[in-house]
Amino acid sequence: MKGLLLAGGTGSRLRPLTYTGAKQLIPVANRPILFYAVDAMVNAGIRDIGVIIGDTGDEVRQALSDGSAFGAQFTYITQSAPLGLAHAVKSARHFLKSDAFLMFLGDNLLRGGVADLVERFSDRDFAASILLTEVADPTQFGVAVLKEDRVVQLVEKPKNPPSSWALVGVYCFSSAIHEAIEGLQPSWRGEYEITDAIQQLIDWGLTVDSARVQGWWKDTGRPEDVLDANRLILEDLSGGILGEVDQESQITGRVLVESGAVVRRSVVRGPVVIAQGAHIEDSYIGPYTAIGPKVRVVATEIENSVLLAESQVENIDARIDQTLLGRGVRVCGGSRKPRALRLVLGDHSRLDI
Ligand code: TTP
Repeated sequence: MKGLLLAGGTGSRLRPLTYTGAKQLIPVANRPILFYAVDAMVNAGIRDIGVIIGDTGDEVRQALSDGSAFGAQFTYITQSAPLGLAHAVKSARHFLKSDAFLMFLGDNLLRGGVADLVERFSDRDFAASILLTEVADPTQFGVAVLKEDRVVQLVEKPKNPPSSWALVGVYCFSSAIHEAIEGLQPSWRGEYEITDAIQQLIDWGLTVDSARVQGWWKDTGRPEDVLDANRLILEDLSGGILGEVDQESQITGRVLVESGAVVRRSVVRGPVVIAQGAHIEDSYIGPYTAIGPKVRVVATEIENSVLLAESQVENIDARIDQTLLGRGVRVCGGSRKPRALRLVLGDHSRLDI
């Protein structure tokens, strides 16, 4: 079975972070989101993986390289424009040939992996198998109508949801999906929808099976989702002090201080990860915080937050909470008079004071 990993798209909901980088490379617990998807595929025995790339393709290629570091082999496939998930499959036709494949959205995270789904699909003669999870508000999702595990209908963002089983971004397909995609028309939002193609398989009388998410699932489309995902991944963190922590600092709980990181006169309460080259001084770093490489935190309290590489936070006299800082962002306080806010914020920045 082959793999198809989707790392194209626009990422508009994650602006401004996605103006300068791929959304799938935003780190959670200091590791790009996309890497967790690759791990899940490899753990399910899928090694021959096509990677769909778009405008941010160079950066994705650089991060993933040839796949050997993951025990996989990557083939990069450029999607001419982000015209939808079915369009991404169509773009990969020459790579997929007539093989069955697992499609994984590169911004999705699954605690329980995909091995069960893949095993179930490989053993049987299904046209497709989709992964579902129960959600509180199905009106925001593609929803499956089920007869036991068989999917009998898909409804996109239903006003009156027929069930609470929502589609997550992981699917197994036989080669029948290509024929279903051939006949698709763009949806109201102008995209070639994979749900329409799956509905076509159902309409042809083919079997579309389903499996349920084990553990948690997270789509990291919005900034608050990235913070949630960071919290969920940090729940499983194993601590370790490889960097430099001075005698005046206090570390409690599961805290990973990577080699080359420095913690001075600070309190760190895990789960927290502090990356290589980071510098923490006279600060409090609270639970569910990921401090990226070469980040500098001085005289500041921060928790539940993600700070990307080379950002800098100094002398802030309020606690920073639920915050996502991009690369090289600088947030500095101080007692300079007049005490005013001096801001340089890019388009679509968000600041709550
Ligand atoms: P989405 O989150 O549906 O779309 P998006 O990335 O364009 O984001 P936004 O809605 O914020 O603008 O995409 C899900 C995943 O699939 C994501 O990893 C990007 C990828 N994708 C492609 O590779 N090609 C596409 O044509 C689309 C629509 C998405």
